[in-house]
Amino acid sequence: MSQDVLSPARANEITGQASRRRTFAVISHPDAGKSTLTEALALHARVIGTAGATNGKSNRKETISDWMQMEKDRGISISSAALQFSYRDTVINLLDTPGHADFSEDTYRVLAAVDCAVMLVDAAKGLETQTMKLFEVCRQRGLPIITVINKWDRPGLDALALMDEITERTGLIPAPLTWAVGIAGDFRGVWDLQRDRFVHFSRNNSGASIALTEYFTPQEAAAKEGDAWTEAVDEAGLLAEADAGLDRESFYAGRTTPILFSSAALNFGVKELLDALVDYAPAAAARPDVEGGARPVEAPFSGFVFKVQAGMNQAHRDHVAFVRVCSGVFERGMVVTQTRTGKSFATKYAQQVFGREREVIDQAYPGDVVGLVNASALRVGDSLYVQSPVEYPAIPLFAPEHFQVARSKDPSRYKQFRRGIDQLEHEGVIQVLRSDLRGDQAPVLAAVGPMQFEVVEDRMTHDFGAPMRLEKLPYSLARLTTSDAMQTLSTVHGAEVLVRSDGEILALFNDIWALRRVQKNHPDLLLEPIGTQSRSGSAG
Ligand code: G4P
Repeated sequence: MSQDVLSPARANEITGQASRRRTFAVISHPDAGKSTLTEALALHARVIGTAGATNGKSNRKETISDWMQMEKDRGISISSAALQFSYRDTVINLLDTPGHADFSEDTYRVLAAVDCAVMLVDAAKGLETQTMKLFEVCRQRGLPIITVINKWDRPGLDALALMDEITERTGLIPAPLTWAVGIAGDFRGVWDLQRDRFVHFSRNNSGASIALTEYFTPQEAAAKEGDAWTEAVDEAGLLAEADAGLDRESFYAGRTTPILFSSAALNFGVKELLDALVDYAPAAAARPDVEGGARPVEAPFSGFVFKVQAGMNQAHRDHVAFVRVCSGVFERGMVVTQTRTGKSFATKYAQQVFGREREVIDQAYPGDVVGLVNASALRVGDSLYVQSPVEYPAIPLFAPEHFQVARSKDPSRYKQFRRGIDQLEHEGVIQVLRSDLRGDQAPVLAAVGPMQFEVVEDRMTHDFGAPMRLEKLPYSLARLTTSDAMQTLSTVHGAEVLVRSDGEILALFNDIWALRRVQKNHPDLLLEPIGTQSRSGSAG
């Protein structure tokens, strides 16, 4: 253990760096403005000169977070990485989550690697299906959530009605940090409740540069904005009476959610969000390990892989494992050990990746994300460390809802087919289920969102030279079961039992009725919902 002891100065430096980190992701229903907000945040941090070039669907092909050919073809962002920038005296790590209508496990994995989530809500639509799904994942993970009501420049719902919806549907008590002055569609600015001042926004180059802001005292605001100001103060006052004051404890415990209003497209309210992240969001802190301890941030380097991505670079179809640093300093070239295998390897190629932008990084601190290039032995959920070993909890494997049988189109390429399927499974692109009945030639691919199949097809053809055929299965529901179920369910219509590569036995059902029938007829059969289980790969 003595080798783990750092000099007090070094330990202090690491603790200081960790406390400067804010690592978060934006969660939203597609079209709520996630890409627009990401770019507005980057603009504020002056990472990119103008936001307009990459803003919105019409120019989406230029969007900084697009990289796969398929993404470009479809104009959607499938993969995710991290954007890092400095703001005030902090380092902000914004982890990009896929923005398409389908779900994929990627989104969930990103949420395993952040310390906070920003829930972006379209002012005209309120909480939508995917916002709710993602919110639920955050709740399960105990992630604090900042809520941003976006598109306030357009006609939308009433602000208090939106607050009621948040409380009713999420159970979170809204605690406004800013409150909109002017109804949706007539966005004049916000009352900054923390600093008790009116932040007046004016339109400027339709969002291509930072919004012009002026600050006024409440008295000046009342004179300037009249009823709009009085109403804002009354509304926020009503919420304050409902005890919506913000304290860090209730925010971190998931009881309250700080509220902000924005128009990402006009860059209104974006600086206020950055300030909220700096002032309120949790800094990178010690992360619990599987043994119930927590390796302090100033301990020697450790981290875990939350995402593996291949084919990011058209020129060299490479393989990048994204690691969230949990403790210590990551230094490029350091030799780290993979907990699952006990193997060590040198991290010669380490990068920071966001969209097509890549930069070699030499150092990273807790909260940061490092892309390890060509680390093909790494899998999602793997822990890495130097000096004393650590294992971080596995990333939950989510319940698949879509199932398709895969077969090689060309029997002579069966070897490539198998290698490809195995590799994609290791990367976490897809879950693979097998049964004696179906045989190895026809594994069942299982996904959270159907787009995962498209990624598999594309990768199988282009990366592995093993084009395949997919055939949809009628199942939509999976439950964890035991080997007893194999016999019992072999005769049941609308059900099938398969074994996942991590050893779990899954019973698949056509629909909830098929499941209920089985539960009724075989009450002793174990049929557990999936969702809290772990990727056992990381347990060795
Ligand atoms: P997403 O990543 O969450 O899917 O959303 P995205 O940023 O692509 O935004 C979806 C649409 O909403 C885009 O319009 C975008 O310009 C618009 N938008 C985003 N934020 C705001 C906002 O604060 N106010 C208004 N009025 N619109 C906003 P689009 O029509 O699809 O593209 P474009 O023609 O505007 O480029």
